[in-house]
Amino acid sequence: NRLHIKGGRVVNADCSVDADVYIENGLIVKVGKNLDVPGGTRVVDASGKLVMPGGIDTHTHMQLPFMGTFAVDDFYVGTKAAIAGGTTMIIDFVLDQKGVSLIEAYDKWRGWADPKVCCDYSFHIAVTWWSPQVKSEMAELAKNRGINSFKMFMAYKDVFMLDDSELYEVYKNCRELGALAMMHAENGHVIQHEQERMLNLGITGPEGHALCRPEDVEAEATGRAIMIANRLNCPMYIVHVMSKSSADVIVQARKQGNVVFGEPIAASLGTDGTNYWHKCWRHAAGHVMGPPLRPDPTTPGYLMDLLANGDLECTGTDNCTFNASQKALGKDNFAKIPNGVNGVEDRMSVIWEKGVASGKMDENRFVAVTSTNAAKVFNIYPQKGVIAPGSDADIIIWDAEATRTISAKTHHQAVDFNIFEGLVCHGVNSCTISRGKVVYEAEDNKFTVSGGDGKFVPRKPFCKYVYNRINKRKENYDPSKVEREPFQGQYINNTNQS
Ligand code: URP
Ligand code: ZN
Ligand code: ZN
Ligand code: ZN
Repeated sequence: NRLHIKGGRVVNADCSVDADVYIENGLIVKVGKNLDVPGGTRVVDASGKLVMPGGIDTHTHMQLPFMGTFAVDDFYVGTKAAIAGGTTMIIDFVLDQKGVSLIEAYDKWRGWADPKVCCDYSFHIAVTWWSPQVKSEMAELAKNRGINSFKMFMAYKDVFMLDDSELYEVYKNCRELGALAMMHAENGHVIQHEQERMLNLGITGPEGHALCRPEDVEAEATGRAIMIANRLNCPMYIVHVMSKSSADVIVQARKQGNVVFGEPIAASLGTDGTNYWHKCWRHAAGHVMGPPLRPDPTTPGYLMDLLANGDLECTGTDNCTFNASQKALGKDNFAKIPNGVNGVEDRMSVIWEKGVASGKMDENRFVAVTSTNAAKVFNIYPQKGVIAPGSDADIIIWDAEATRTISAKTHHQAVDFNIFEGLVCHGVNSCTISRGKVVYEAEDNKFTVSGGDGKFVPRKPFCKYVYNRINKRKENYDPSKVEREPFQGQYINNTNQS
């Protein structure tokens, strides 16, 4: 239960220093030079390497029941792959059907995750229907079950979608509970009609998926989500930002002072939607996710620029994987292809390669967008997201000089496909420490972890990073009426009864 990381360069979001790290019982005790360490402590050599906070993936769907099947990366394989890639915490989604109790869904997902997770985890709860029961269950989750973020859908009509007036009610409740409202922003009505139109044109392949939900469909919903949230002074987090135009809406809203955060994902930063036109059906279907990747090949670079300069905040993956035989549910109809791609293992390397190796961001910004900002937004900072005394010892040792080539043949995920196949990444995770224990060493591809070693991390509402600004706005937010004398002139009676 004691670990001494020696000889490395400690990289946090604010600065980097040459320092050693001493860990006891899962917590960081000291950071500095020439540390006084008890004899017999295990030494981990980090010479020539970067010692960074483990990654936090803000968006995964392990073993999600979805579109007629289950995602193949379950909580065991998925979190094992995460730690191989340098991620030490995931935030997954409890996502059940309309009409299902949120508490029952939460218990079901905890039952799936708790015995299987190899790293720490937490949950966002999806609100897919609205009723007085849902309202009170959201309160129970926020007050007593460690949940401070709720995801809603403007797409998946008749399945997960809420209409604007339901969204209004959910946001109002989020605001009262001190929770963060998260949005899947796409116009579900338009998508449904456009799917039919594409199929009638005889377009049944994966390109139809991209054609029926172009950028505008995402950008319009992003603007609408933010507008409604702003009416209620509710903070907003846009999940899986996939397009330039949606990102632009977020940038504009932030410039206007809205409390809104944008989350690009490994997929939108690392590849593009030209793949939907690939001649191999499996390859094209392997990229199907919602919102789709964009055919404009300059999109990943554009999103990376915004992530580098602070306009976008956190990074997730939307890891939700399906094998070829499952994707084939939609072999004759793109609308039936289970939506989802990989990313949980490769996010860190993809962002290092496209962000740091390209010169767009430095190592400190890398830590901010892969870990620290997520910890701040979701209210687990400084427990997570920083290497400092008192914080959880979730640490990775990063070899910035090494390279690896991503491939489905060598990845640790269960899925038989990888959207980053062949990408050569500079920057490789060489060792993962979770709760103060070495759980993965890349050199001999060795895991020393069991399902259930990870723990559920409860998160409190009214996160200061999110709610400080919101609370200050309360006074301006509740308008007051103009005091005036009643109208004294003549008036007519309303005779129109209709
Ligand atoms: O295609 C996706 N994104 N699948 C997972 C569900 C969601 O919308 O996040
Ligand atoms: Zn979504
Ligand atoms: Zn309609
Ligand atoms: Zn998702």
